Amino acid sequence: MTFVVAIDGPAAAGKGTLSKAVAAHFGFAHLDTGLLYRAVAAKVLAGADPVQAARTLDAVDLEDGTLRTPRVAQTASEVAVIPDVRAALVTFQRQFAMRADGAVLDGRDIGTVICPQADVKLFVTASPECRAQRRFKELTDKGMDITYDTVLADVKERDERDRTRAAAPLVPADDAVLIDTSDLTIDAAVAAAIAVIDRAR
Ligand code: CDP
Repeated sequence: MTFVVAIDGPAAAGKGTLSKAVAAHFGFAHLDTGLLYRAVAAKVLAGADPVQAARTLDAVDLEDGTLRTPRVAQTASEVAVIPDVRAALVTFQRQFAMRADGAVLDGRDIGTVICPQADVKLFVTASPECRAQRRFKELTDKGMDITYDTVLADVKERDERDRTRAAAPLVPADDAVLIDTSDLTIDAAVAAAIAVIDRAR
């Protein structure tokens, strides 16, 4: 029996942290689908054609050390508007969702396009300032030299591009449960997500 949890939301909303915690709690596998787009972006920045890069994506590409940088994130949101790039990544994501031990996938279009039949759909948000603050801390903790204003601008620009694109725009599924993490601790957000999943199980 498969069990699929779809977690979508805007940039730096805490989807990754939440997904990892939920996956660990229930023993589900976790796929950060943003990493797929970031890996395509890294190849594009190295000179590849976006569609070719998406079609030939390999597991080792997900281990590229630059994937978490803002430059790669921006390029990811640029390649993510290309329908053929998205199409090339669908099968891998759907196969991952079929895992018998249950799966959590996080991204932008999991509940709407990749797994519209997901057992649980969460849409995780927070104010842009809150998200930028968290991402700023994450990047500076890693030693990156960046300003809060740059991070905020990056988050807002990507959100705008992700929301307004024609292919699989960032939008909550009709049946998604909204979790606004602006005023929640990580533990409280995880508890809220677990409660929703427990009810569905
Ligand atoms: O971690 P963060 O929320 O900042 O970004 P991410 O989830 O790694 O996604 C990077 C970019 O990939 C996003 O801005 C989207 O443009 C794109 N993406 C997408 O289009 N669809 C997905 N399912 C996941 C990511």
